[in-house]
Amino acid sequence: MPVPAPYGTGLEPMGSYHVTTFGCQMNEHDSERMKGMLESLGYEEAAGRADADLILFNTCSIRESADNRFIAHLGEAKRLKSEDPERIVGVGGCWAQSVKDEVFERFPFVDVAFGPGQIHRLAEFLTQDSLTAQGYFEFEDFSGHLPAKREREFQGWVQISVGCNCRCAYCIVPQTRGREVSRDPHELIAEIERLAADGVTEVTLLGQNVNSYGRDLPKESRITFAELLGQVDAVDGIGRIRYTSPHPKDIREDVILAHAELPALCPHIHLPLQSGSSRMLKAMRRTYNRQRYLDRVAQIREHVPDCALTTDIIVGFPGETEEDFAATLEVVDEVGYDGAFTFIFSPRRGTEAATMADPVSHPVKRERMERLVELVQRRAKERAQRFVGRSVEVLVEGPSRTDPARLRGRSSHNKTVNFEGTAQPGEFVDVEITSATSTTLAGHEKLLSRVP
Ligand code: SAH
Ligand code: SF4
Ligand code: F3S
Repeated sequence: MPVPAPYGTGLEPMGSYHVTTFGCQMNEHDSERMKGMLESLGYEEAAGRADADLILFNTCSIRESADNRFIAHLGEAKRLKSEDPERIVGVGGCWAQSVKDEVFERFPFVDVAFGPGQIHRLAEFLTQDSLTAQGYFEFEDFSGHLPAKREREFQGWVQISVGCNCRCAYCIVPQTRGREVSRDPHELIAEIERLAADGVTEVTLLGQNVNSYGRDLPKESRITFAELLGQVDAVDGIGRIRYTSPHPKDIREDVILAHAELPALCPHIHLPLQSGSSRMLKAMRRTYNRQRYLDRVAQIREHVPDCALTTDIIVGFPGETEEDFAATLEVVDEVGYDGAFTFIFSPRRGTEAATMADPVSHPVKRERMERLVELVQRRAKERAQRFVGRSVEVLVEGPSRTDPARLRGRSSHNKTVNFEGTAQPGEFVDVEITSATSTTLAGHEKLLSRVP
């Protein structure tokens, strides 16, 4: 397999690439930008790793399981590289950033490694004459303005800030993504206008702590997150706005009111709880306590009564007692989340919590996790019953995963909806909901219901 020539003729492809993505939406979006950049260099997407000249991994390091999953895949890349040494293997993303040049010592077959802030450097690497192993790990502002290759033409992600200034004791992200830097609002709105002109109707704004958006901007361009939401809402063609994640310490009434006032802003807030115990929250350095969190929830329910609420919860943080865990169960019961991501605490290198004494055994953590999941699902199922008998607007994404004869889409509350109908991906349709589980709604397109 030839090494891609540094400068393409524009007529034939420079080579083929394959990207595997691990981790959060931010990484998925970074992969879209990697793909966009590679295609603008003349590369084509390969169907599988075995067909690719350039094998890329966009990694995550949030929990140990994320590291392990990726390392298992890397074995296949090693084999493919040994079969064809001219193939290029690249490792980007948060895991790469967290181990930096160690990547090359541990995995000598890797040719290029780069952190999440250095995606654009991949192009530099690929177009230089000598392809000697190279690592790129500086933090800059936003990582270049790369065209994204979107998975669905009608959905777009927009990164409003990079990095995180919080210091949650368990979290590796501040190390892997650096300090928080907000992007200029004019630039963001121009990007969203371009997306809308290109057929995007749903945008998801991404940041580690979207509520602190803008605080680091120069005075003349500084706006708040709520103001940004207002400006995005005003963009013609944008029918739905989502964002993730708000931090409970920073979410303000103006953002909650925006949910009540802005027609395009979806009635869904993902508000990571982490623990219902104030003692644990303090140890985690979340800088809010149980009451403050519940006050925010009350404020949301007051202004946007039907708003869907989802959350993230960590079980078994070092020193979590049965009493602390019971406090988490209480909050979950009281709030009644529409859904929750639940994680067993995983010590991460370089974080404060990794050095904390942890007397809680793994079986105890597993057992707590089971109890938590049972409660989360029961409450989510109860909450979901409010949609039964209602007509909800669904953005169609494609065929149902379980039954290809049906369609799948998402409601504005961010529920997956499987339904009978004839709509095409990208269309908004009204669906009559006939049943609900903890995670999905089922029904039929409104028009169909009138057909005898
Ligand atoms: N910036 C986002 C969270 C990003 S990480 C926020 O603060 O909302 C997504 C979730 O992973 C976190 O909310 C947390 O619940 C979980 N998580 C992060 N580090 C973890 C660790 N070391 N062990 C277990 N779960 C963790
Ligand atoms: Fe991690 Fe906390 Fe920042 Fe979220 S807010 S990315 S959990 S440090
Ligand atoms: Fe996301 Fe994983 Fe990095 S969750 S920010 S890709 S560590």
